[in-house]
Amino acid sequence: MAIRNIRTEGDDILRKKCKEITQMTDRLQTLIDDMFDTMYDANGVGLAAPQVGILKRLVVIDVGVETPEPLVLINPVITESDGEQTADEGCLSLPGLLGEVTRPNHVICKAFDRNMEEITIEAEGILARAICHELDHLDGILYKDKVNDGLYRAEQKG
Ligand code: NI
Repeated sequence: MAIRNIRTEGDDILRKKCKEITQMTDRLQTLIDDMFDTMYDANGVGLAAPQVGILKRLVVIDVGVETPEPLVLINPVITESDGEQTADEGCLSLPGLLGEVTRPNHVICKAFDRNMEEITIEAEGILARAICHELDHLDGILYKDKVNDGLYRAEQKG
């Protein structure tokens, strides 16, 4: 396990579309472990593979109490979404910044876990937000593209 370098805004890789994963490999298992280490080290709640320079459809999420366990989502797709929530969002690829983003309040996400077993996650609130944010990364979309009122420095928040 190791901490990988997090790519930051301006790096072209963050704007590329990621490829589907067709087969689990030892290299991918190591990548998943490294992504968790990297996310926890940076105090993040989610990380997508392109943020560590890998253009594959893989994200890890751990929002704490609302997730039963840390999530690995491979080839994730949101199949249903409804409701609306508006809150500040940040991203490890845009360090020190926040911006207000409106997202669905409830999503159903189908994906594969790290054993390539099909899973369905029903999520609300912060977990729904994290899933939407991380899945956007897989298509080269950053939350700054969706902010309601621009970005601001995190320390300006009370
Ligand atoms: Ni992000």
